[in-house]
Amino acid sequence: MKNYGVSDEELLGVWYLTWVSEKILIGCAHKFIREKVLAEYQIIEKIIDADNFLRLREISGLSPRPREAAEKALPNSLYCVQVLFDNKPVGMGRVVGDGALNFDIVDIAVDPEHQGRGLGRKIMESVMTYIKGAAVQGSYVCLMADVPELYEKFGFTLSRPQSEGMVWTGIADEKGTIME
Ligand SMILES: CC(C)(COP(=O)(O)OP(=O)(O)OC[C@H]1O[C@@H](n2cnc3c(N)ncnc32)[C@H](O)[C@@H]1OP(=O)(O)O)[C@@H](O)C(=O)NCCC(=O)NCCS
Repeated sequence: MKNYGVSDEELLGVWYLTWVSEKILIGCAHKFIREKVLAEYQIIEKIIDADNFLRLREISGLSPRPREAAEKALPNSLYCVQVLFDNKPVGMGRVVGDGALNFDIVDIAVDPEHQGRGLGRKIMESVMTYIKGAAVQGSYVCLMADVPELYEKFGFTLSRPQSEGMVWTGIADEKGTIME
């Protein structure tokens, strides 16, 4: 094949520069589009009300929670972030715990109509800003991950092999029956 006086090394260099420039351009375009999309949303740090909390859990596919318990629990949150679209919550995240030694990240959810636009990441960024300001060396920061891929991006790792996550399901139902 004719090489027009260009060496293999030069060709490889040109190919590499083209490849890098393409990656940078795609990255910039992706960031630009994401920022434009995110500009349509408002992030607020405020405890979410029970109606929107239950609605967001339901539509995002999380398990239903009892209303009475939600009304009692939500004001006890250490931290809560909401994402609003047209003043309506379409995403949320909470932190519960004692505020110094133990922090649990819970109720991370985004309305399916608004998923895949960077809102889950925004929620976790806000949560982590709170955690970094409140946790000390030796604090436990935990979560139950339905979507580990999201939390890995924020430095979360499996607790194994040092410890196993466990749940207790022996709660009595309204008739007093122990459910297991
Ligand atoms: C998990 C959830 C909150 C993510 O919200 P989202 O707005 O769609 O997430 P984002 O668009 O901000 O994505 C953030 C990153 O996580 C990744 N991610 C999100 N959902 C993912 C999935 N299901 N599988 C793999 N990666 C996923 C994205 O690829 C993205 O990566 P990038 O920022 O490097 O491009 C949302 O899908 C949801 O509400 N799911 C149902 C409820 C749920 O499972 N909550 C978690 C309970 S632990």
